[in-house]
Amino acid sequence: MVEGFIGNSRPMQEIFALIKKIAIVNCNVLLQGESGTGKELAPRSIHLLSPRKERPFVSFNCGGFTEELICKELFGHEKGACTDATATKIGLLESADGGTVFLDEIGEMPLSMQVRLLRVIQEKKILRVGGTKPIDLDIRIIAATNKDLKKAIEEGSFRKDLFYRLNVVSLCLPRLAERKDDIPLLISHFIEKYSRTFGKKTKRVSPQVLDILMEYDFPGNVRELENIIQRAVALEEGVVISAKNLPSDLQRLEFRTLEGDGLRTLEEVEKEHILRVLKKTRYNKSLSCKILNLPRTTLWRKMKKYDLPSEE
Ligand SMILES: Nc1ncnc2c1ncn2[C@@H]1O[C@H](COP(=O)(O)OP(=O)(O)OP(=O)(O)O)[C@@H](O)[C@H]1O
Ligand SMILES: [Mg+2]
Repeated sequence: MVEGFIGNSRPMQEIFALIKKIAIVNCNVLLQGESGTGKELAPRSIHLLSPRKERPFVSFNCGGFTEELICKELFGHEKGACTDATATKIGLLESADGGTVFLDEIGEMPLSMQVRLLRVIQEKKILRVGGTKPIDLDIRIIAATNKDLKKAIEEGSFRKDLFYRLNVVSLCLPRLAERKDDIPLLISHFIEKYSRTFGKKTKRVSPQVLDILMEYDFPGNVRELENIIQRAVALEEGVVISAKNLPSDLQRLEFRTLEGDGLRTLEEVEKEHILRVLKKTRYNKSLSCKILNLPRTTLWRKMKKYDLPSEE
């Protein structure tokens, strides 16, 4: 695994085991997972554990570029292919020959580029822009997205055939809220990282801060935790991070945890628990009913009563 790719929880151990297993097999991989779950750490790990590890690892973010730029970057061009092509340019795909290409935010790739990429995968050959002679190419593609590609296929913005070519093995990185056991480990890791960067003596968080962070849902996943710790280390004068150096909305969570124990009403606990189950099951009502042991109508009634969302 690449250094600093952390996780002792069961979901992460399963991910690491899967990474080791698929690394040695020469197949394309599709990485999915919410924003901030580590989709940029996994591809390098796969590459480093694979027989291609001595060959190049090339990374490209498909988001935010024009079609023309993506095309030139990935496929390169022949001399004279266009007015500014004064020399032949080797594209990223070609430069990764024998190695691994990580295509981040693949969901943002324009349709015309998707067709070109599909052709490269199918034919194992590449044609530079303005070129006429296909060049043999041996690459392994790892693509990542935080988009729902199945939905993108339905909407017509992603090609189904490319999806199946990429999704030979799919790896879904868990949300941080689904692996809270890892929070203390990640906190220590980020404190060490940012104490070093900022030249601080910060060593740990107070028990109160730990309580708050264990309670919080982290919609921004590990990236959000990292930002919170980075900010706290920057602001903290002492060795121990105190709650006052957490963002204010998290400090409010502190009052909830402090007041909470034994003081909340049954209804509050019920509301919170139902919401937790809904989130965990990604708003799958049948599964939620099963877990809660409630008939569907009762779940609906309670969701209405507590004004709970019925989807993400
Ligand atoms: N398991 C982990 N161990 C240590 N650091 C992690 C882990 N997962 C994520 N991080 C850190 O969190 C930050 C965000 O991770 P990353 O950039 O891989 O997110 P992402 O899944 O690509 O998100 P997005 O979809 O928004 O691009 C990075 O700084 C990364 O190093
Ligand atoms: Mg990313």
